[in-house]
Amino acid sequence: MNGVFSEHFTIGGAVNSSTVLGSRELIVKHFGSLTAENEMKPMVIHPRMGSWIPYGADEIANLAREHGMGMRGHTLVWHQQTPGWFFSSMGAQASPEVLLERLEDHFTRMQDRYGDVVYAWDVVNEAISDAPGEFLRPSPYLEILGEDYIEEAFRLAKRIMPDAKLYYNDYSVLDPAKQDKIYTLLSGLLEKGVPIDGIGFQGHWNIYFPDSRTLERGIQRFAALGLDVQITELDVSVYRHEDRATRLKEPTPEILELQADRYREIFQTLVNNSQYVSNVTFWGVADDKTWLDNFPVSGRKNWPLLFAEDHSPKPAYYAVVEAA
Ligand code: XIL
Repeated sequence: MNGVFSEHFTIGGAVNSSTVLGSRELIVKHFGSLTAENEMKPMVIHPRMGSWIPYGADEIANLAREHGMGMRGHTLVWHQQTPGWFFSSMGAQASPEVLLERLEDHFTRMQDRYGDVVYAWDVVNEAISDAPGEFLRPSPYLEILGEDYIEEAFRLAKRIMPDAKLYYNDYSVLDPAKQDKIYTLLSGLLEKGVPIDGIGFQGHWNIYFPDSRTLERGIQRFAALGLDVQITELDVSVYRHEDRATRLKEPTPEILELQADRYREIFQTLVNNSQYVSNVTFWGVADDKTWLDNFPVSGRKNWPLLFAEDHSPKPAYYAVVEAA
C-alpha cells in the first residue's frame, strides 16, 4: 500500500509486540512508517519511579530500522497512560519544577534511544475538552503547570528533539465545536512563535462519517495556518459512537461495502489534498486485533481495518488502493 501512495503521502500502521509477531508480513509489505500503539507511552516505558522498560519500544524501533521505515513517536504529554508518580513527590502533588524535570528526563531518554528513527512526535495528545464551555481538558498537567503546559511541552521538545517534526494530536477534529477550540489553541500558539509543525487528526471514524466536504474543510483550515496534516490513528468502525447497544456477530456484506465506500471517500479526499497531508497511519494492522474490540463498549468485537481476521484483504483494502 505504501508504494501505491508514494506520490502523495506515506502509509503507516500502529503496531505492538503482539502484532509484530502475528502480523509481521502485512506490516512489512504495506507500511512505510510505524507508530507504537502503546509501547512508547510513559506508562509502559516507566511504570514506576526509576524503572525503565523500553524493550517493547526497542523491538518496534528495530523493525522500523531494519526496513528503512520512519516512526511517529506517540505520545509525550497526555492525560492517559502516564504513571501517577510523574505527578507526585513525597506524598504530595509534584511542583511544576519537579514535573518539568521529569518531562525533560523522559524526552531526553526517548530522543537518545529513538531519535535516529522517530521523525515525528505527538508532543501533546488530546488536550482540548469535549465539554461545552470548557477549553482545556482537566488533567494533572493543567493542574500543576497551568494552561501554558502545552506551550512548554512544545518548547521542551524542540530543545531536546530539534530535528523531529512536532505535532498536536487529537480526536473529533472534524466536530465543529471541538475544531474551533483546537483552531484557537493552535493559531494562538503559532502567533506566539511556539515550535509546532503539524496537527494529527486521529481519524477514529465510522462507516457513516466523515463525508468528503467535512474532511476537506478540516484539512484546509489547519493547512492555512501553515501546519502539516497527518492522519495518525485511522480506523473506520462498523458502529456509530452512540450505537453502544448494537452488537454484530460478524460484518455483513452490506456493512463491508459501506465500510469500503467510506474508506474510498476518505482516501479520495486525502489524495486530492495531498499537498497538505504527509502521512496516513492506520490504528492497527488487521481485524484480529483492534483496540475497538474494547472501546467504547468493552468486549464487543469490531472490524475497522483493511485486513480481515484471517489477514485477507477486505473490500475496503481494494477501495483504498484504487483511490491512489
Ligand atoms: C489506545 C490503544 O490502542 C489501546 O491498546 C490502549 O489500551 C489505550 O490506548 N487515542 C490515542 C491512542 O491517542 O493512544 C489510543 O490508543 C486510542 C485513542
